[in-house]
Amino acid sequence: MLKPLKEKVTLGHLRSARQSGQKTAMLTCYDYTTARLMQAAGVPALLVGDSAANVILGHPTTLPVSLSFMIEITAAVRRGAPLAFLVADMPFGSYQASVAQGTRNICRMVKQSQCDCVKIEVTAHHLPLIRSLAAAGVPVMAHLGLRPQSVGVLGGYKYQGRTADEAASIVALALQMEEAGAVALLIEAVPPEVANAVIQRTSLPVIGCGAGPGCHGCVIVTHDGLGLTPSRPKFVPNLAELGDPLREAFGKYVHAVSTGAYPSAEHQYTMAPAEQDRLKAWIEKTDKNSPC
Ligand code: KIV
Repeated sequence: MLKPLKEKVTLGHLRSARQSGQKTAMLTCYDYTTARLMQAAGVPALLVGDSAANVILGHPTTLPVSLSFMIEITAAVRRGAPLAFLVADMPFGSYQASVAQGTRNICRMVKQSQCDCVKIEVTAHHLPLIRSLAAAGVPVMAHLGLRPQSVGVLGGYKYQGRTADEAASIVALALQMEEAGAVALLIEAVPPEVANAVIQRTSLPVIGCGAGPGCHGCVIVTHDGLGLTPSRPKFVPNLAELGDPLREAFGKYVHAVSTGAYPSAEHQYTMAPAEQDRLKAWIEKTDKNSPC
């Protein structure tokens, strides 16, 4: 069942998936160990999402996570999964101030993390930045639909494209992104009709996150799929319920330590009997209460 990655997954694979109909499975990943397991399981595409702010750092929104933290964890994921197509999320504040600031920070992310692509949450305001990055040769995935970094203006984590007008403006933005040089689209929390319209009007690979079955690939926050977050969003599949086994394992450890069952003989390092005797003699000789 498991098919570990054998060769490097590139943008070419995502592009050809658009023609072949082969869907791309993408998972969020935030650390080296999980990245190793994902590569061994054959996960072709990994996203180091700014959802790290929520599931790794415990913030209620994605806004507080820093660029240096995102670079550090993206580089760790790269070391764990050198063959996966690795997308790095640019955090809030790292590309909004100007084209120069965005280009500088995105180039820093690419150089220091060795990611294959960067993702930014876009409005039409970002078109000059996308053009500048395309000119610099940086592959950009444009994130449309629900944009969690704009939760304030969107008025909460609500799905987008509810009306025909809203849907049309998402499609128009997707087209502008393609024309400006984005290499892929990610569309979050929209009805399938909206994603399908984007797919029909553009020629880029489209990754959906709660956007229906028409997309060329799907991404979910791994912790949601594994049952590690307090609630699983409607569109996320139940991959496993790891919360209870983990809680049980931690409880087992507390019990073993507190009852003295751990560590037992099997968990101890050994000292040769002759060295034990020498140590005993030294302790006796240097015992501060010893008469000599
Ligand atoms: O940060 C993230 O994990 C994301 C996905 C939810 C698409 O952007």
